[in-house]
Formats: sequence, C-alpha cells, structure tokens
Amino acid sequence: MEIIIVKDYEQMSQHAATLINQFVQDNPYATLGLATGHTPERTYKLLIEAHHDLHIDWTNITTFNLDEYIGLNPNSPHSYRAYMQEKLFKHLNIKPQNIHLPSITGDMAQNVINYEKSITNAGGINLQLLGIGQNGHIAFNEPGTDFETTTHVANLTPMTLSANNRYFKTPTDMPSKAITMGLKTIMQAQAIILLASGQDKATAVQQMIENEPSAKVPASILQNHNRVTVIVDQQAASKLKQVLR
Ligand code: GLP
Repeated sequence: MEIIIVKDYEQMSQHAATLINQFVQDNPYATLGLATGHTPERTYKLLIEAHHDLHIDWTNITTFNLDEYIGLNPNSPHSYRAYMQEKLFKHLNIKPQNIHLPSITGDMAQNVINYEKSITNAGGINLQLLGIGQNGHIAFNEPGTDFETTTHVANLTPMTLSANNRYFKTPTDMPSKAITMGLKTIMQAQAIILLASGQDKATAVQQMIENEPSAKVPASILQNHNRVTVIVDQQAASKLKQVLR
C-alpha cells in the first residue's frame, strides 16, 4: 500500500482528482469503479471543473458503481444512482450507456450475477475509487464478509445504518439491505485509490493498515493488493502507530 497523508479534506480531494484526471487522460478508454458517500463529493466537483477547464474527455470512459440500496423507489433522490447523476455524471460528457450501477428491480439473485458479468464483459475495472466505513467496510462489505465474496446482497450493520441515515430526509427511510460488489470483485481491479477523511475514520484506517488482514476489518484485504494508494487526511491518520505520520 502506498499511504499518502495530507492536511485535510480539501487536499485529499485535490490529490485524488489529480490522480483520476491523469488516469483518464492517459487511458481514455478506461473503466473506472466509483464510490458514493460524503468522502468523494469534493473530488467529483474537481473532476467536473477539470472536465470544463482542461477539457478532460469522458466520452469513452465506462463506470461501475460499487453499490446501491435495495428497496428504494428507482427514482428516489436517496439512491446512489441519483447521487452519481447529480454530483458527477450530468456534468460530464460520459455516455449514459457507459454508466453502470447494480440493478435493484426484478430478481436480485439474477441481478448479482448480471452485475459481475457486466464488469467482466467490460474487461474488468482499471481504477477503483473507494471510501471506507467507520467499521472498516468497503462498498457495503460489512465486517465478517468472506474475502472470496463477489457481488451480493448485504445486510447493513447497525453501525452503518446509524452512520448513513443522516443522508435520508427521514432516517428510518434508510434501507437495511444493499447490493454491493464483493471483496473479490474489488480486489480484481487493476489499481485502487482509497480515500478517508476525519476523526471518525481514524480507527478504521488504523485497522485497515496495521491489523493482519481479516474479515473483521474488510478493508484490510487491500493489504493483499499490489496497487493500492490510500489518501488520508491528518485526522483520519491520527491513530496510525507506524512512523507514517
Ligand atoms: C457507504 C458506501 C461506501 C462508503 C461509505 C462511507 O457505506 N457504501 O462505499 O465508502 O458509505 O461513506 P462516507 O464517505 O459518507 O463516510
């Protein structure tokens, strides 16, 4: 793992956007894996600015999002599809047919198979962007998830429910299930960037980097990947024991 510690959320976002813009410029036909949540919001704003100001072209970029809540109305503003549309896609020249999120309508057993297949058919993910949950989850792979898991339906833990229900107008409207890429799916990406900001991520970051890889801390699986860049701000890095700080 390459670990980059920056001052704050803004610097984390600047650093991530620079890496992603460079990647898109160097690999105009790339497939990107994308994340939601508060963490990448500023990064996405910077990608939009670069698209407009530096003419970074998204015409031939393909994207796969990590996950989606199950049980929401497909038009819900709380869906990750709506998040991505509002915060990134509608501001870029990406083709709608190149955008992929897991489907939450119809047969979920079939949807998980289809999502995994569509990633494979696209040639796999070249660069995957990740956030991290307070309990060490990546995408919606909660603690206890087997490292061999591919795309699946996950039950969200009470910790994740309480961390994420602030994004819902009525907190009890937050679904307790989601469809998510699995840990194995994520590990198949050629390169990974993980972002973390703020004190409430410090324990998860410390365990991800310093614990032996184990299902207790799903993000710790990333230690077994040979191209991971972790960009954390000082608060999120504050519990690291190693001399990284
Ligand atoms: C959700 C998403 C994750 C994300 C995490 C952290 O659980 N499924 O992909 O990394 O939230 O979110 P935030 O960035 O809002 O802290």
